[in-house]
Amino acid sequence: MNLITIILAAGKGTRMRSQLPKVLHSIGDKPLLRHVYDLSAGLRNNTIHIVIGHGAERVQQTLAKLPVNWIEQTQQLGTGHAVQQVSSQIDDNSIALILYGDVPLLQAETLEKLLSKTNEKTLALLTVNLKNPAGYGRIVRDDSGKVLRIVEEKDANATEKTITEVNTGILAVQGKALKKWLAQLDNNNAQGEYYLTDIIALAVADSFEIATTSPSNEDEVLGVNDKIQLAHLERVYQLQQAQNLMRQGVTLRDPMRFDLRGNLDVGQDVEIDVNVIFEGENRIGDNVKIGANCSIKNATIEDEVIILPNCVIENAVVGANSRIGPFARLRPETVLANDTHIGNFVEIKKSVIGQGSKVNHLSYIGDSLVGKKVNIGAGTITCNYDGVNKFQTIIEDGAFIGSDTQLVAPVTVGKNATIGAGSTITKDTPDEQLTLSRSKQLSVPNWQRPVKKEKL
Ligand code: UD1
Ligand code: CA
Repeated sequence: MNLITIILAAGKGTRMRSQLPKVLHSIGDKPLLRHVYDLSAGLRNNTIHIVIGHGAERVQQTLAKLPVNWIEQTQQLGTGHAVQQVSSQIDDNSIALILYGDVPLLQAETLEKLLSKTNEKTLALLTVNLKNPAGYGRIVRDDSGKVLRIVEEKDANATEKTITEVNTGILAVQGKALKKWLAQLDNNNAQGEYYLTDIIALAVADSFEIATTSPSNEDEVLGVNDKIQLAHLERVYQLQQAQNLMRQGVTLRDPMRFDLRGNLDVGQDVEIDVNVIFEGENRIGDNVKIGANCSIKNATIEDEVIILPNCVIENAVVGANSRIGPFARLRPETVLANDTHIGNFVEIKKSVIGQGSKVNHLSYIGDSLVGKKVNIGAGTITCNYDGVNKFQTIIEDGAFIGSDTQLVAPVTVGKNATIGAGSTITKDTPDEQLTLSRSKQLSVPNWQRPVKKEKL
């Protein structure tokens, strides 16, 4: 049967205290609404409708590429009113599934369970038992346990308020019946809203069975209303991802101190120490070790690489058997071949470093092509920028660059060339030769150090 998913996302989210529409706040760097979309997109024969209102334009722009039907609810008159906006597009023979743009962590298995209970004469409702049910709609059952209706907190009497089984809002039902009940909703209630929850009593009156099911974990159905709940769900989400990686064999020294904001493809026997953050699309090979406090974004890290603590890596490729850090920064378009060593306080930008080359201490290498087996001494700087234009430095295979050298680009250091320490190199240097550019050492006899003047 065809499925039609309706995602409600028109609410304001006042308690977020933000200019950004609520459903565009992120968990794992992905907008809340995108989480819900991705879940629905995994369902078969599904058409997705998203009801937007507050910040409609911005929501639609941010997620413009998604193949969904956007529907604007210009006034937020309640959840029932929100679903009514889609009514004319609900196929009689479809199953309609209601989801919420601010409930991001629902799992596919829970939805499958809910959908499997839905049929011609059964409305399936996702409920959960909460120690503290305050604020939620309560599930009212008769003595035999049959669901009769949902009562909202604000409309509930004292006895109803003691009910701990609550409405998650998530439900699935046959399209034709839903349309009929939507047309019957009124707003005679404490909040003067058209409640979607009122369709439960209408279904019961039409001899529908109400089948309930629950998520395996209540975090799945938690919504985001403020930054505290957003932070809570971020941690829940991160732990889910950490557990996924551990199931794939990754060793996480502390899964509570791990963040993945994007995707991570891993090989075997990867070890990740605490406080490592991955962003974007990342791929790491076998036997890679990553030290504490690294920030890694859009990186490819090949087999057997060791990344020592406190490195920042972005849009870079690290070849197999390389050793990076501690305290190294690999900036975009850095490509390190196999067996390279990049040490502490080294910054590399838009450069290729050849196999077996080493840049071990305190250097800046930018816009450079570095050959194989090159040794770059401590404090070497490629001066790639004249304030307006950027220029390239080429260092050929086997070159040895002495400490504290400035290479003023555009410049080429020849094959197996040696540059003497402390040189400022402005012209190409020949292969196989020693080049240096420093004045002779000089000593001044009888030179006096300045003495401190008495203050007046
Ligand atoms: C709703 C349920 C309540 C349930 C709770 C679970 C109703 C009447 N009540 O209450 O039983 O326990 O969710 O969290 O359905 N929205 C729109 N347009 C509107 C109104 C709401 O798109 O006109 C969207 C909101 O953006 C939000 C969602 O629907 O994402 C829920 O609305 P909200 O007003 O938060 O419902 P609750 O009062 O929490
Ligand atoms: Ca110098």
